[in-house]
Amino acid sequence: MTSSATVIGHPLLQHKISLLRDKETPPIIFRLLVREIAQLMLFEATRDLTLTEREIETPLTKMSAPVLAAPGPVLVSIMRAGNVMLDAALEIIPTAGVCHIGIYRDHDTLEAVEYYFNGPADIADRSLLLVDPMLATANSSIAAISQLKARGVSDMCLISILAAPEGLAALSEAHPDVPVFVGSVDAQLNEKGYIVPGLGDAGDRSYAT
Ligand code: PRP
Ligand code: URA
Repeated sequence: MTSSATVIGHPLLQHKISLLRDKETPPIIFRLLVREIAQLMLFEATRDLTLTEREIETPLTKMSAPVLAAPGPVLVSIMRAGNVMLDAALEIIPTAGVCHIGIYRDHDTLEAVEYYFNGPADIADRSLLLVDPMLATANSSIAAISQLKARGVSDMCLISILAAPEGLAALSEAHPDVPVFVGSVDAQLNEKGYIVPGLGDAGDRSYAT
């Protein structure tokens, strides 16, 4: 499979991303917007989830009804900022498994520092949806995907609200088999590795740190 970034251009999503970018948006509204954006993006990213049939009875008759095949997908949060998206995604797919991966960027080198991993034992056999609002250098998402591949995972995609062209190119080079869904491909990274125009530091804006 070749790498592809799908930009989700839906007007509702684009409107909410603009509100998210605004530096006057306080953390409580920032988190609310990230949640809403995550749910809108998930709608697009889950188009290919497998359905199966279950016999049910409506008030009128029996029918064979489509339901999500079990086991459901696993939602993977790249912490910290991914946790806001994760919680919103779990409302849409309450039967999903959950995996937390702790990674932060070293502020000086921009290298990914990996500090935590906790996911389901059968993760290699599941479909994974990774969530992280920011894809800047892509060092964090490349490290997360590498950790998952080392555990045998082959079926996964990444959902990020904002991406930099440099990060998309690096991710496509490192993991060409992983589809990426983004809300916007911004202009560039600045000298400190921040996405421009971007929204600032997603973790800090989510948690007021
Ligand atoms: C942010 C963001 C991504 C990463 C993106 O996390 O949530 O994980 O930066 O940057 P990259 O593509 O250059 O790796 P951060 O390092 O700020 O960690 P935090 O959420 O724990 O604060
Ligand atoms: N991480 C963020 O939170 N924001 C950026 O612009 C880049 C990396």
